[in-house]
Amino acid sequence: TYVVVENCIKCKYMDCVEVCPVDCFYEGDNMLVIHPDECIDCGVCEPECPAEAIKPDTESGLDKWLKLNAEYAKTWPNITIKREPPADAKEHDGEAGKLDKYFS
Ligand code: SF4
Ligand code: F3S
Repeated sequence: TYVVVENCIKCKYMDCVEVCPVDCFYEGDNMLVIHPDECIDCGVCEPECPAEAIKPDTESGLDKWLKLNAEYAKTWPNITIKREPPADAKEHDGEAGKLDKYFS
C-alpha cells in the first residue's frame, strides 16, 4: 500500500484524490489517509502530491504512519473530489512536528 505521511497535515492539497483509480482516500480535518486494504499500489498518487506526503510502505520508518492511515481510514469519510486547499498550505509545507501540533 501507499501511505500518507506527516507533511500532508495542514497542507492537504487533495491532488491525490483526483488520480486514485480506486478512490481509497479518506478525509480528516487537516489531512487525508489511504485505506491500506483498498489501495492497489498503482503509485500514481505519489508524484501528484505537491507536499511529497505520499510514500510506498516499502520505505523504512513508516510503521507509525501505516497504523495511523489504517486506523483513520475506517471512520473518516471517503473523498474523491479535490477542493480548494487551505489558504495557508504553503506556510505549513515542511514544518516540523505537525502530528503533535495539528493532527485531526
Ligand atoms: Fe490510490 Fe494508487 Fe495511490 Fe494507492 S497508490 S492510493 S491505489 S493512487
Ligand atoms: Fe495530502 Fe498531498 Fe493529498 S498534501 S491531501 S497527500 S496531495
